Amino acid sequence: MFFPNIRSRRLRVSKSTRDMVAETSLSTNDFVYPIFIKEGIEKKISIKSMPGIFQLPLKDAVKEAKEAYSLGIKSVILFGIPQKKDEIGSQAYAEDGIIAKSIYEIKSAIPDMIVTADACLCEYTSHGHCGILDKNGSVLNDPTLELLEKEAYVYAKMGADIIAPSGMMDGMVKAIRKSLDNNGYYEKAIMSYAVKYSSAFYGPFRDAAESAPAFGDRKTYQMDFRNAKEALKECMLDIEEGADYLMVKPALSYLDVIRLVKDNFPYMPLAAYNVSGEYSMIKAAAKLGWIDEKAAVIESLTSIKRAGADIIITYFAKDMAKTVEV
Ligand code: PBG
Repeated sequence: MFFPNIRSRRLRVSKSTRDMVAETSLSTNDFVYPIFIKEGIEKKISIKSMPGIFQLPLKDAVKEAKEAYSLGIKSVILFGIPQKKDEIGSQAYAEDGIIAKSIYEIKSAIPDMIVTADACLCEYTSHGHCGILDKNGSVLNDPTLELLEKEAYVYAKMGADIIAPSGMMDGMVKAIRKSLDNNGYYEKAIMSYAVKYSSAFYGPFRDAAESAPAFGDRKTYQMDFRNAKEALKECMLDIEEGADYLMVKPALSYLDVIRLVKDNFPYMPLAAYNVSGEYSMIKAAAKLGWIDEKAAVIESLTSIKRAGADIIITYFAKDMAKTVEV
């Protein structure tokens, strides 16, 4: 077949034309902004590996959330850093713990903000793993689920709208759904980190959340990055267990997986986590003058959306909302 009259460049002649035919667009409605709240500090502490991101005292975290909201960002995801850690991560589900208080304060200050609570144990355990350990140091699955049930209940009680389990334990969605329903929290949603890879790109986050494992790695629970089809199994199980949203994490090295998940489960809202390492790489290159930061951020986030994500969790959310006419 030969179409002599088809010319591509007619659709690129002007910015207005390009805008009119663009297949993908970004909006502040798509963004979830992560906030780190540290117990026992008075002033914010900058995170060296994540320029522009801070560990915040609770009062500043509320301000940060308000600022994000005023910029049009509808959701935050919260990470707590407790003063005391122990083997069973008690501060993760303590009703007077830093994360419980943060959820309560932020939700009370901005009732319309969708407060998403990351539900994991690694920021709260002395060993930095995402669950309880046996004597050989491996993570015990089912005993960990019991803690996640408590954690989800406390976060829901404090006002969280979405519980986002990120520990990659088998059966975590089912356990959390049961705990929420048994306590009457039928309307609280679950955003499962269904497809979470064991990734080198979480490095800076572990500085921010003080959650690096004290020994070993997370390869016995997080996914192997050589696998894509396995992501479909993870999603299928989580949907069956009651997940309302799915997530793929990280985002940029996994655009193929985002596309695969979206094509197979088009009816599930899909989030992608543009993780700390993806943020820091752009920040570092921009600081060296090697890349145009704003252009690189817009291109990266657009690629995540184009791949099929509906929601993007990103440290760039505020910057984008401020600067972008997207
Ligand atoms: C907790 C958790 C992690 C991230 C989000 N929730 C770290 C990890 O699994 O080690 C990483 C986010 C990022 O890198 O921005 N389990």
